[in-house]
Formats: sequence, structure tokens, C-alpha cells
Amino acid sequence: MQTTIASVTFEHPIFNAAGPLCVTTEELNAIGNSSSSAIVTKSCTRTSRDGNPEPRYRGVPLGSINSMGLPNRGYKAYINDTRVLKEHKKPIILSVSGLSLEDNCTIITAANASDADLLELNLSCPNVPGKPQVGYDFEQTDTVLAAVMKIAKKPLGVKLPPYFDFVHFEQVAKILNKHNVAFVTCINSIGNALYIDPVLEEPVIKPKGGFGGLGGQYIKPTALANVRKFSELLDCPVIGVGGIEKGVDVFEFILAGAHAVQLGTVFMEEGVGCFERIRKEFEDYCAKKGYTSVEDFRGKLKTL
Ligand SMILES: Cc1cc2nc3c(=O)[nH]c(=O)nc-3n(C[C@H](O)[C@H](O)[C@H](O)COP(=O)(O)O)c2cc1C
Repeated sequence: MQTTIASVTFEHPIFNAAGPLCVTTEELNAIGNSSSSAIVTKSCTRTSRDGNPEPRYRGVPLGSINSMGLPNRGYKAYINDTRVLKEHKKPIILSVSGLSLEDNCTIITAANASDADLLELNLSCPNVPGKPQVGYDFEQTDTVLAAVMKIAKKPLGVKLPPYFDFVHFEQVAKILNKHNVAFVTCINSIGNALYIDPVLEEPVIKPKGGFGGLGGQYIKPTALANVRKFSELLDCPVIGVGGIEKGVDVFEFILAGAHAVQLGTVFMEEGVGCFERIRKEFEDYCAKKGYTSVEDFRGKLKTL
């Protein structure tokens, strides 16, 4: 069940998504000690951040809603962690989320000298006040990628927000192919959802009047659609994320074209045990189907 992304080999295709339970060194070591096939760090900014006021995450029956505000220890701490995390002998992915192009360039320059194997640049993040997040502003996406690809000495991939329009898929894919990104991870949370507690007559999280990013079961069909479209349009591998809770979900993402998958909400809710459970369920499902490697079925979604 090995998979390879930008010449980096993963023992199996299931690992953690940037954000949940990957902020502290202890949490990152716990991922290292688990069955996760890689270690992804919390998205880091130039300086450390406390994030938004609590409550800022809530698990709900079909997933989660959050407005964390990027709480993290600053890029230097994560770059130091890569040296320790190396001992786990699995790929390390540094997630980068600078709040400006300049910050992203500073972080990526420093990451060149780290022990990270891959860099995942989070484009679901506002960089210019008054403009949408970078991933929804194609001009900015082009500018940011032109600058960072020149600097990065490690394979650099991007984490994308969800898209919903075929023209947008094509426009984004054209830019990503032009800049030869090493991989694409999709999708980030579906932005600015609102979950209401009807008894209390309140939202369930405090920041932004309750608006937050949606994860979990709600978003799986959107995530599958993004993986499918981008795997058709891009010259690089796609990592799928969004709503994976069971082994069969992993199978569906690979069938749609993913090279690997990441776990967000399910990891937040279940802890490190989810990696072994989902890996085993996935392998059992593949065995039942008679598949012995992910190449047997990757991207081979049938048509009706
Ligand atoms: C608490 C929390 C924090 C997150 N923080 C980040 C982050 O720092 N960087 C990032 O790229 N995505 C972040 N995400 C998004 C996840 O990586 C993932 O794309 C999203 O939750 C969808 O996956 P899921 O349905 O498995 O949760 C966060 C998600 C959650 C729930």
C-alpha cells in the first residue's frame, strides 16, 4: 500500500491533516508514534499566535466547525521540531501559512535548511487585507507561486480551498501546472458555515459571530469532486482530505484519483487511534476487492 509523492515514499496513504492535534511537539511526536504514515505540522506563521477566543472548535453530529485563527508556535519552533521528528523515520510535511507573501518567503527560505521532506503551502489564508483568501484570488495565487517556487529547495505543494465551478477548477489548474507545484492537497474546510444551537439560540463557536470552516461528513462529496477534477487536470499528485472517517472513504478518494489522504476532524474527535483503525479498514476493504496495491485502482472511477 506504499505511495510516492515528489519522490518521497509513504508506507501507506493515510496521515494527518494540518491543524488538528499537531501544534505542540508532544502532539507531533504522538503522530510520529502512531500508524499515521507521515507527520504534518500545524500551519505556521512568522511569529507565534494565540488564535481566536474560545470556544473556537466544535464537533457536531456530521463533522465539525472551527474558527481557530491559526494558533501556532511560529515557524522557527516547527523547523526545530523537524530535527527531532526525523527519529520517527516517516515523511515530515511542514505546513506553511504566512500572513503575507513576504512572510511566506521568509518561512520557506528557512525551511530549505530544515529536516522537512515536503512543504505544504496553505493558500486558504488571507494575505492581503480586503482581498479574499489567496486561493480564491487567482491573480494573487499566480504571484505567490511565482515568488515561492523560485525560493523553495524542497518539493512544495499547495493546500487548496474547495472550488465549486468547473471554470475555476480549470483556471486554478492552469496556474498550478505553470508553476510546477510538487503536489496539491484538497480540500481545506468549506469556509464560513454557520452552525446554530436551537435550544440556546446561539452559534456553537465564538469568533466571527459563529461563522467557521466546516469539516467532516458534510464536506466529503465536495472533497471527492475536487480530488477528481484536479487529478484529471493537474500534472502532479493530489492528496485528498475532507470527511474521511472510515477505510472505505480512503478507497473512494483513491478511486477518485488521490495518491494519499489526510485525516482532520476524525483525528480531532478520536485521537491517534484513528490512523490504525482506518488503515486496517482500508486494507481489509482492498483485500475484499482483490486489490494488492493502490495503483490497481487509483483514479479508475468507472463511468455510468
Ligand atoms: C481544528 C482544525 C484546525 C485546522 N487548521 C488547519 C491549518 O492550520 N492549516 C490547514 O491547511 N488546514 C487546517 N484545517 C483544515 C484541515 O486540514 C482539513 O483540510 C479540513 O478539516 C477537512 O478535513 P476533515 O473533514 O477531515 O476535517 C483545520 C481543521 C480543523 C478542524
